[in-house]
Amino acid sequence: MSVRRLAEDQVQPANFAFNAENTTWAEKTIKKYPEGRQQSAVIPLLMRAQEQDGWVTRAAIEKVAEMLDMAYIRVLEVATFYTQFQIKPVGTKAHIQVCGTTPCMLRGSEALMDVCRHKIHHDPLHTNESGTLSWEEVECQGACVNAPMVMIFKDAYEDLTPHRLEEIIDAFEAGKGDTVKPGPQIDRHLSAPVGPLTTLTEETKPDRSNLDKKDEPAPDAAQTPPSNAAKPKTDTPETDPKLKTPATEPKAAAENAKAADTNSDAKKSQ
Ligand code: FES
Repeated sequence: MSVRRLAEDQVQPANFAFNAENTTWAEKTIKKYPEGRQQSAVIPLLMRAQEQDGWVTRAAIEKVAEMLDMAYIRVLEVATFYTQFQIKPVGTKAHIQVCGTTPCMLRGSEALMDVCRHKIHHDPLHTNESGTLSWEEVECQGACVNAPMVMIFKDAYEDLTPHRLEEIIDAFEAGKGDTVKPGPQIDRHLSAPVGPLTTLTEETKPDRSNLDKKDEPAPDAAQTPPSNAAKPKTDTPETDPKLKTPATEPKAAAENAKAADTNSDAKKSQ
């Protein structure tokens, strides 16, 4: 892992400004956050500054800090923490970030770095002679299942061999990086296992025997008495089983009244 320091003074530009399109975008982005939380826009603004100039300059860090009313040191902390931010000038056609964390290391990342040393520059974060390519070692990029891998701009290239990485670097150097498909560089779908299925290889048909019994008569629902399980035990008049519903029908109302009289006579005689 490289120490992340800002580029030397002699390569730092004196100032930074977003172009007109990015200024409009930045103002809109800052407004997405609630009042008092505008500092949350620090990562998108730094990333846009990098996309505009190719790397994050000290002047860009200071400009973003002023736009978000933050201390310079806070924005510097963010820019130096995330390896997604390039804080030194990098290759204009590609900056190769080789993952060197354990799964990638065990699967050959050292050989990938040898390719970069040989094809680009012996040392990380130095451009090749024409300034078009650079490389560095980074920590896990979250594609360990397809190790080893490299990240170029925002795309991951996985399941690499030294030979395949050479081809990819050549494609970017020739300005044809968009012809290389990101993701696994072998015959693997996303992160599925390599090769054919080794388990669940037999097709299991669903059991449809119940559906085949459609000619048999359905069980007589009327023979199953309604459950009283959830009915409260109460002797309030409204719950008298002799009451008929709907109570608004004249006949049912008369029967209900008769039942109510009977109940009250019975209670008086007790
Ligand atoms: S260890 Fe290399 S991507 Fe996770």
